[in-house]
Amino acid sequence: MPPVVEVSKVGGSVGEQVLIRGWLYNLRESGKILFPLFRDGTGIIQGVVVKSAVAPEVFERIRDLTQESSVEVTGKVREDKRAPGGFELDVSTLEVLQRIPVETPYPITPKDHGIEFLMDHRHLWLRSSRQRAVLGVRHEIIKACRDFFDDRGFTLVDTPIFTPAACEGTTTLFEVNYFDDKAYLTQSGQLYNEAAAMAVGKTYCFGPTFRAEKSKTRRHLTEFWMIEPEVAFAHLDDAMALAEQLIAFVVERVLAKRWSELQTLGRDVSKLEKCTTTCLPFPRLSYDDAVKQLQERGSEIQWGGDFGGTDETILSENSERPIMVHRYPSQVKAFYMAPDSARPEVALCVDVLAPEGYGEIIGGGERLADERLLLQRIEENKLPRRAFEWYLDLRRYGSVPHAGFGMGIERVVAWICGLEHVRETIPFPRMLYRLTP
Ligand code: 4AD
Ligand code: MG
Repeated sequence: MPPVVEVSKVGGSVGEQVLIRGWLYNLRESGKILFPLFRDGTGIIQGVVVKSAVAPEVFERIRDLTQESSVEVTGKVREDKRAPGGFELDVSTLEVLQRIPVETPYPITPKDHGIEFLMDHRHLWLRSSRQRAVLGVRHEIIKACRDFFDDRGFTLVDTPIFTPAACEGTTTLFEVNYFDDKAYLTQSGQLYNEAAAMAVGKTYCFGPTFRAEKSKTRRHLTEFWMIEPEVAFAHLDDAMALAEQLIAFVVERVLAKRWSELQTLGRDVSKLEKCTTTCLPFPRLSYDDAVKQLQERGSEIQWGGDFGGTDETILSENSERPIMVHRYPSQVKAFYMAPDSARPEVALCVDVLAPEGYGEIIGGGERLADERLLLQRIEENKLPRRAFEWYLDLRRYGSVPHAGFGMGIERVVAWICGLEHVRETIPFPRMLYRLTP
């Protein structure tokens, strides 16, 4: 038996017999030669099957193959500059693990399918080249985020998913029955992160978060993944510096490691090249100036209001780099935000808007470190004080300034991959009207 070789590594076996295990991606026939395309999860390779060179039953077996039938194929690797991937396989034999019958074909064919059909078949759609490329970029982004924090002395502290109270507003909570008591799926690990930061100084969490937003926009999922750093003794400016470094680091890593995936996705990489570490710092824009810009461009926004998706698109569509919008009015932001001592009506917060109209990818800022003010904000927001006693303790026992942020992975994947909608950025998206597959 020749050695099992992954398609992505056939370059190391030129002139040798190899065994490739995978699925039939496509099959072309040209006279006495068959050109099957095999994919194995690491790449796609074209096989060449010459009728006179293989046993007659092998030729027939391959000619009879159907799309996505699973196979083990043996052949000799040959370099071919014209072939996609640069190599071809001169097939000598092939075993079928499962042949999909012609009567019940693989549902996703090379023709165009509607988005609803593809979403219903998400479990199979993931096998397509584009979706595989997205999965690869997503993996790289997550790995880069972890490396970024790990290399800077942050300790990963996992935060819970069942929580007794709201973090980001009570209107977007998913309630669950917790042994006849009420609990909620977490909206953010931040409050627990703050406790962890007082223990380890610099921390981050990374996990699924949930929002029961009745929103159907291209930016909303009901379940999404968020990476959240939190740093003791840090202020708003420190959080902004950390955020821009993280973004630039991630972009640079994807450009370095996932070039071919970006090509598969048709991404204009020159746009991403303007967001790397050599392009720092990213521009800062105060909320006040953002409102003026929006009004000049015809938005209805008034000072004091929150930005809608369209406002974010307007602000970020003509920018080459992410924009860091800071100091929103406290009234539109969460209860835990520290007020600016020079202007108490605004919060020491930042939203980072990705360029090309992608909008918010990061939200964060400096936290209220004063017990009395925090209690006041909890009451103003009609939050149950009992559930926040532990959080108030952090302000009673060695309170220090601290800051952090949350970055939504799917929004970042959408931007870096150049996707229209976040539904393709997560393997199995959960949205307002979709909980399947
Ligand atoms: O701005 P948000 O709500 O901030 C927080 O949750 C803070 N507690 C984070 C922190 O300071 N530790 O959410 C942060 C990010 C957003 O910028 C966005 O990227 C993403 O999470 N996000 C969503 N992504 C997809 N679907 C949704 N419904 C999202 N809501 C927020
Ligand atoms: Mg936000």
